[in-house]
Amino acid sequence: MSDIIRQLEEMREAARMGGGQRRIDAQHAKGKLTARERIDVLLDEDSFEEWDMFVEHDSHDFGMAEQKVPGDGVVTGSGTIDGRLVFVFSQDFTVFGGSLSAAHARKICKIMDQAMKVGAPVIGLNDSGGARIQEGVASLAGYADVFQRNVLASGVVPQISLIMGPCAGGAVYSPAMTDFIFMVQDSAYMFVTGPDVVKTVTHETVTQEELGGAITHTTRSGVADEAFENDVEALLRTRRFMSYLPSSNREKPSVVPTHDPVDRAEPSLETLVPASPTKPYDMKELIVKLADEGEFFELQPDYAGNIVIGFIRMGGSTIGVVANQPMVLAGCLDIDSARKAARFVRFCDCFNIPILTLVDVPGFLPGTAQEFGGIIKHGAKLLFAFAEATVPKVTLITRKAYGGAYDVMSSKHLRGDVNYAWPAAEIAVMGPKGAVEIIFRSDIGDDAKIEQRTEEYREKFANPFVASSLGFVDDVIMPRNTRRRICRAFERLRNKQLENPWKKHANIPL
Ligand code: HXC
Repeated sequence: MSDIIRQLEEMREAARMGGGQRRIDAQHAKGKLTARERIDVLLDEDSFEEWDMFVEHDSHDFGMAEQKVPGDGVVTGSGTIDGRLVFVFSQDFTVFGGSLSAAHARKICKIMDQAMKVGAPVIGLNDSGGARIQEGVASLAGYADVFQRNVLASGVVPQISLIMGPCAGGAVYSPAMTDFIFMVQDSAYMFVTGPDVVKTVTHETVTQEELGGAITHTTRSGVADEAFENDVEALLRTRRFMSYLPSSNREKPSVVPTHDPVDRAEPSLETLVPASPTKPYDMKELIVKLADEGEFFELQPDYAGNIVIGFIRMGGSTIGVVANQPMVLAGCLDIDSARKAARFVRFCDCFNIPILTLVDVPGFLPGTAQEFGGIIKHGAKLLFAFAEATVPKVTLITRKAYGGAYDVMSSKHLRGDVNYAWPAAEIAVMGPKGAVEIIFRSDIGDDAKIEQRTEEYREKFANPFVASSLGFVDDVIMPRNTRRRICRAFERLRNKQLENPWKKHANIPL
């Protein structure tokens, strides 16, 4: 018996050493933690239960029969974050470069299956050279098995990917299908084809970092949701992030007690919107002032800045915020912002997270780049997402709500539950100047007449009263009372029940 226990301990020790001290040192030298160290930072102390520590690959080609490492390059299991269950896989770059073998894939699939059964999130820590080259198609099959599970788990349990090293080729498609991607600056990169292939095919010279680093994906492509400076920051922020989410689509997010009174008045909001309708202001200031303790977990802060998305809490409950940002492109909707917000709205709707929409939108961004790029279909994504969402929806128009963008931004007509406006709201088909130049074209040239017509139009529509007289705005509220009114609205929507007609799935414009 004692021999077996000793043998077991030796096997555990071998597994813990992964690819050996030399490779662990190399990992550290790159500023990266090992797969196990990452799990230790991510999970509550002593909560990790490892599975399949002794799994080995079953490949014989290219001398692989003599090269076996217990665990086969991925550490899998479950643990807790703030006491709540999560399933984790953490690829071990020290073992065959974290490459994915059939056995490695089976380990990931096993924890994904279990997470689905019990209703708990899956967090993947990705650090891998991709398909295990020695295994060929068996490795590709393993990827496909993971992909299939990503799709089936989508909308059932939250799936979070941290990219903490290489993630290239088809391997990018598993993270791509998860709900959120966080990347570590300098050490992580994601691309479908690397710099060498790019050079051969398109003759472009580009570095790994330029092609697929964290900055690229959080500023240019929008593939990743946030970039963090190092492994520890990424893991600690992920812990914080998880606190906003429910464990599955069967639950609501947990309520975090707050000392911030729900009826806190905020007199400074009375002067947030400048007197001039063309002057910008920072919508994030409003979000922070509405949030419990001023805490806002923003996502994609450096991509499509004309729309702001992220999580706050109000009265302790998680709220997903979607807000036009007048500081960037005057808050216009465009292709990137519509895609960014649409996916977020759909996430919130999947996971029972109420949505607060803050509106100051002069319309859709004009231009050939937008039209040729398909703004019609991309804009429709956001419209579709808001319209199909059945979670509680509260909307506040702070200033402009013009044209189609008024409809899109969670208007009453798209089943907005509670729609408020501030007194400065302007709700119309377009701005007064543009409107007058179209409907009074014959007066163009007569400046006095145009001025008078513009004033008439402004008086008629540059206020929230027409919309409120039609019932499209439920109430015009004072800025200082906004937190109280919105908290109360969400509180009263707590037991909202609304179901879309049965269907296999909708056909959102892609
Ligand atoms: C097997 C691999 C491996 C792989 C790395 N290793 N990638 N072993 N299969 N895919 C091993 C190396 O042999 C080495 O072993 C160790 O991991 C570390 O690799 P290094 O090259 O020394 O590390 P580094 O210099 O940091 O470079 C990392 C790397 C490079 C950029 C990831 O290893 C690399 O380019 N690997 C191949 C990437 C690739 O082409 N993968 C297939 C992509 S296609 P030792 O014993 O020396 O420590 C794909 C298809 C998926 O993934 C399809 C899904 C549908």
